[in-house]
Amino acid sequence: MTRYIATCKLGLESVVAGELRRLGIEPERVEDARVTFLGDAAVMARACLWLRTAERLLQEVAAFEARSFDALFEGVRAQNWKQYLQKDSFIHVNGKSAKSKLFSVTDCQSITKKAIVESLRASYHTQVLPETGARVIIEVGILRDVVTLALDCCGAGLSRRGYRTYNVTAPIAETLGAAIMLLSRYNAELPFIDPMCGSGTLPIEAAMLAQNRAPGLNRAFAAEAWPFLPGGTFVRAREEAMDSIVQTKVQILGSDIDPHSIDLCKKHAKKAGVMLEWKVCDLNALQTGWENGLIACNPPYGERMLERREAETLYRDMRRVFDGLPGFRVSVITSHRDFEKVYGKRADNRRKLSNGGIPCTLYQYFRD
Ligand SMILES: C[S@@+](CC[C@H](N)C(=O)[O-])C[C@H]1O[C@@H](n2cnc3c(N)ncnc32)[C@H](O)[C@@H]1O
Repeated sequence: MTRYIATCKLGLESVVAGELRRLGIEPERVEDARVTFLGDAAVMARACLWLRTAERLLQEVAAFEARSFDALFEGVRAQNWKQYLQKDSFIHVNGKSAKSKLFSVTDCQSITKKAIVESLRASYHTQVLPETGARVIIEVGILRDVVTLALDCCGAGLSRRGYRTYNVTAPIAETLGAAIMLLSRYNAELPFIDPMCGSGTLPIEAAMLAQNRAPGLNRAFAAEAWPFLPGGTFVRAREEAMDSIVQTKVQILGSDIDPHSIDLCKKHAKKAGVMLEWKVCDLNALQTGWENGLIACNPPYGERMLERREAETLYRDMRRVFDGLPGFRVSVITSHRDFEKVYGKRADNRRKLSNGGIPCTLYQYFRD
């Protein structure tokens, strides 16, 4: 059995663990910003395709202590790299380090690469490794002097589902959007409205959840090019994911005051393969015939888009408009520290989350 590491934003570890359990994969350890699990290649391919809230999936090669560059070099060289890398593999090393003696990430990356190359030269009995073949991304991560060597299964981060372009102001990451929907206990029976939907992330993530659509269906993964992967691993996982789609009719509305945003939303939804309603609408004109649903939104914070005062006026408008909708639960993510005061109501639940490095809180209001 191989160990896999699903990395995630701080605060979302239990959400990732819950997703794994629903996929029938038992988490091994839930730690800061990562959840590990054991499995085979088929399990890895399913996790790549289905994890909505993890940032990356890594396949562990080894973990060992290193407090010097020599120890790092020897630890890396000691691994059997031939089982993962061919003579001509293009080797790309990513690195990160925290709370460790070896803190220079660029030095750790180049030492790791040198040690891998030396190991491969010995294994393949050659001095020449042309690196003209398929790219394999290796991560050297060091935390509290423990080095974890891993293969990056994803390539582009899991946030990149392939449906969204990045030409609106302040879009939320797809992984965070999915996490907000899961934390808000969205399900296909619930009417859902995002009245400030921007590029459409929350409504599209909701529709994909409702239709049991694997978020990775429309993109490629680095692991698909691994020469050592059993043939057909991803083909079977994709077939299973296609068969799992439920063509259910959803009650989901994304609206925004900006017509350009709504144009983009329509394009993004088409790419994502989901059908839902879009409308150009000022929050203050929001009306619906739906009842007992969920509103989730990511309004301007007053630091990146509107000025603080304008954001606060909007938060007061939100309270008035949302209170007028019958039986709706509300989830709002913002970095505004006095959100509850301005909105005029204490949240039933608060959860600290990070949005693009900005410390935020998800405020949740259950039904009255
Ligand atoms: C932070 S962005 C939302 C980003 C979105 N979650 C995404 O992933 O792309 C905030 C959005 O609120 C919209 N907005 C601002 N004031 C509004 C209002 N009065 N009525 C409706 N939408 C408004 C903006 O046009 C903007 O698209």
